[in-house]
Amino acid sequence: MATLAAHDPIPTHWTEGAPSAVDLAHIPGEGGWPLVGNTLKMLKDPHAFTRRMVEIYGRVYKNKAFGGWNVGLIGADANELLLFDRNKNFSSEQGWGPILDQLFPRGLMLMDFDHHRADRRALSIAFKPGPMRHYSGSLNRGIAQKVEDWGEGPMQFYPAIKTLTLDLAADSFIGIEWGPEADKINTAFIDMVQASVAPVRKPLPFTQMKRGVDGRKFLVDFFTAETHRRRAEGGGQDMFSQFATAEYEDGSLMPVDEVVDHMNFLMMAAHDTITSSATSLIWLLAKHPDWQEKLRQEVESVTGGIGADGRPRDLDYDDMGKLELLEMAFKEALRMVPPVPSTPRRALREFEFGGYRIPAGTHVGINAYFVHHEEENWDNPHAFDPMHFTPEKVKARHKYAWVPFGGGAHMCLGLHFAYMQVKILMAQLLPRYRIELVQEPDWQPWPIPKPRDGLRISLKAI
Ligand code: HEM
Repeated sequence: MATLAAHDPIPTHWTEGAPSAVDLAHIPGEGGWPLVGNTLKMLKDPHAFTRRMVEIYGRVYKNKAFGGWNVGLIGADANELLLFDRNKNFSSEQGWGPILDQLFPRGLMLMDFDHHRADRRALSIAFKPGPMRHYSGSLNRGIAQKVEDWGEGPMQFYPAIKTLTLDLAADSFIGIEWGPEADKINTAFIDMVQASVAPVRKPLPFTQMKRGVDGRKFLVDFFTAETHRRRAEGGGQDMFSQFATAEYEDGSLMPVDEVVDHMNFLMMAAHDTITSSATSLIWLLAKHPDWQEKLRQEVESVTGGIGADGRPRDLDYDDMGKLELLEMAFKEALRMVPPVPSTPRRALREFEFGGYRIPAGTHVGINAYFVHHEEENWDNPHAFDPMHFTPEKVKARHKYAWVPFGGGAHMCLGLHFAYMQVKILMAQLLPRYRIELVQEPDWQPWPIPKPRDGLRISLKAI
């Protein structure tokens, strides 16, 4: 039985060492057109494509896209198999590598097993209650100011929350003030993120990839100098300072270049995901004024609503857990529009699933979006209903039927940060404004969902 080792170099292209059409002949599915395979069909409407493949071929199917074969494994059981990965059969490094390795090498999702465990443990220090309390202070300050600046009237929510999330990251992630330095960092970062999904993968002059590679160089230089400085002078309580001084179990510090790569990766992992999920929550609440009102009342009963200075009061770190309905509504938004709709892995060993033998080296993927809309897991799956997340309903459901943050060893490290930012945002928005939908958005579903028109809403002062 062929086996690839977890520490083998990441293939520079995902067909390297991958099974051929002959090796996969026993698995149902299709290769699509010559050269492009099913890439164009998938890009046009990825959700309709998955539905069609499942209808025709079942829950294990092969598909050729982006230059290679891939096997889709669909359902809550498949999610558990890949994410929990009891037998250490699946490499995240070699699953995400072809997509992310050029610009975000050695991030946590690009590591496997022992090395991953050691680094994740060291970095977890940045998400303990002490630092989280500190970030909550900086989020309350930054969000209050920006929501006030947004003011009444029509706006495009998506670009506004994107900018706000970047500005917040400068403060709570990097510990620098808003201003020209933060702007430079933000520009370099945006260039990198855009390049990670650019069609031209070589940094040729004037391409997005070249801008991304230049952006990466700028950020690597900045974070390297800052890691040395913060180690020598002591840093603040921001996330980067926590990373810079994070220690392994034996008390040793992480190599500086690894700190830098983790920081770059973390900013990427946090940014578009929070932006996408906050946008889908606002969209759904604008469409469901009854739920908007329920959440407004909950927020006001927890924070006290508008204070003596006429501004919404801060949401205290210790009160986050009291916003139960808001948390359920956010979970529902993450169910309906998961920011990471599908997740890749690479099989390191041959394995069996759904009656099929899948060879070592196969690129495999699960689909959160599909499972989040299956009738066998959700009653009325296409309706917005935060009551899907009552404790009884959650208990009765397959544990891997809701996986917006993944699961197992690679489960999102920043999920509590995401909940916190969205709760603080709502604690500032809801007591001030009624949110109305101006135009139903057309969602671009992939790679991270976003409304093509920016989500046109109107804020009406209360
Ligand atoms: C709603 C917002 C977010 C969503 C939906 C989300 C989703 C995910 C998912 C699905 C994974 C696992 C991918 C896999 O198993 O291959 C992941 C991993 C990760 N996320 Fe998030 N994320 C969010 C916000 C954040 C934030 C705010 C941060 C940092 C502050 C963050 C940091 C990370 C990191 C470091 C990993 C890699 C963990 C590992 O490999 O051990 N994420 N995220």
